[in-house]
Parts: sequence; C-alpha cells; structure tokens
Amino acid sequence: MRLMERLKAETHELHARAETHPFQRAMIQGGLERGAYMDYLRQMLHVHEALEGALARHGDRTPIREVVDAGQYRAGVIREDLSFFQREDDGGRVPGTMRAGTARLVEEIRACDEAMQFERLLGMHYVLEGSTNGGRFIARALARAYGLKPGGAGLRYMDPYGESQQERWGEFRRRVDALGLDPHSCDRVVEGARAMFEGMCGVLESLGDAWVETDGSVALPLRGAARGATNGQ
Ligand code: HEM
Repeated sequence: MRLMERLKAETHELHARAETHPFQRAMIQGGLERGAYMDYLRQMLHVHEALEGALARHGDRTPIREVVDAGQYRAGVIREDLSFFQREDDGGRVPGTMRAGTARLVEEIRACDEAMQFERLLGMHYVLEGSTNGGRFIARALARAYGLKPGGAGLRYMDPYGESQQERWGEFRRRVDALGLDPHSCDRVVEGARAMFEGMCGVLESLGDAWVETDGSVALPLRGAARGATNGQ
C-alpha cells in the first residue's frame, strides 16, 4: 500500500473524530462567534509556529527535503487573518493564551524536533496540509457567517490555495508517494500523523473547555440562529 493510502486509512477514525467535534461542527455550520474563531486561529498559530520551525530547521533532511516547501507554511497567513480582525476592532476580546491541549501538542512537536524524528514531523505536517481540503468548505461557511469575501482576508488560513487546492494537494501526494521509504520509516510517518490528529482533538477540547458552564455542560459561543442547533451536542 502506498504511504498516502496508508495515512488516509490509518487516520480515518481520527479524522472523523476531529471533523465531528462540536467546535468544528459549529465552525462548518457558520455558527461560531467570530471571537471563538479568532481563538481557534490563535491556537493554530502556536501549532504551526512549532511545526514549521522544526521543519525549517531540518529542511535539508530526508524525507522533509523532498516534500516540504515554504509555500506550505501557514503561520504567516494566520497572523494576517488575525491582524485583519484586530483592525476591525475585535482584538483583545478573546484571551490569546495557549490552551492546555495546544500546549501538549506543541510540547509533542518540540520533542520530535529535539529527537530529530524527521518522519514523525512529516506525518504531523501531512495532517495540517491535508486539513486545507476541508478548510475550503469551512471557509465558505465562515465567509457567509462573518460577511467576508470568500478566500479573502480573515479566511486565508482556512483556504490558502483557492482554486489551486486540488492541484496543490495532488502535488503533495505525489511527493510523499515518490519517497520510497522503507516500512519502518513509513510506520513513523503514520505515528506522527496520528499524534497530530490526537493533538488536534486535544486543541478542540481545550477550546470547548473555555466555555464549560458551572453544571459541566459546554456552551460554545454561538451566533444567534445556530445556538439551538449545536449547543449541547
Ligand atoms: C468540519 C471539519 C472538517 C471537514 C468538513 C473536513 C473535510 C475533509 C474533506 C472533504 C477532505 C477530502 C477527502 C477526500 O478528498 O478524500 C478532507 C481531507 C483531510 N482532512 Fe479534513 N475536514 C475537517 C476537519 C479536519 C481537521 C480538523 C483536520 C486536521 C487538522 C483535517 C485533516 C484532513 C486531512 C489530513 C485530510 C487528507 C486525507 C487524505 O486524503 O489523506 N480535517 N477533510
């Protein structure tokens, strides 16, 4: 089985877990308050900074060299999206601190970086790069919800490639499958991908935790109409 096929098959249930998390569901329904979306961006900025820093440090090492290029890095567009909203005078409404789930994931990335586990780092990158597939759909919902231009400022992180999405993802897939890694190295890539998906679930959990009510139920900050639809699921 090709490595990309393995990655998809062996992370399938984790993708389903991430995709159906109430925070992600609220996002794709366009139901999340803008401040909560900004908080998501802030958490992802920490994750991308950690991973992209590691990838750049080890950019001359196999298998990072053959697959990763700086055009895939997204910390820069997250900063642009956040400053766009801050210009719109929404800044500072949501604390920018790193949530517990984000801190755990960042720690895990740093451990792979320090131990020079290049295959694991590539597996982690696969997850964030692959998330642009669904991100494009989510961006459309967010554009409608927040009155933004599809693919424009505020949405660049979710939809970085626009019309080139399929082409970019096809290229990423080709590069990974051309690596010809031995089975042991492929196992490490899959482990990294699973760790990133699990870490992402932790980030989403932590984002939800910010709005746990005193009775233990979670009340995500939802926009008016979506409140009844997603709350408590
Ligand atoms: C509402 C949330 C989400 C939706 C609707 C969604 C949807 C999708 C869709 C439609 C694809 C393309 C599937 C295909 O062409 O076979 C995809 C692929 C992918 N998504 Fe998501 N996604 C969501 C959240 C996430 C999250 C949070 C992550 C991780 C950070 C993620 C990571 C991936 C990856 C790695 C792939 C590539 C799978 C592969 O072909 O190897 N997704 N997603």
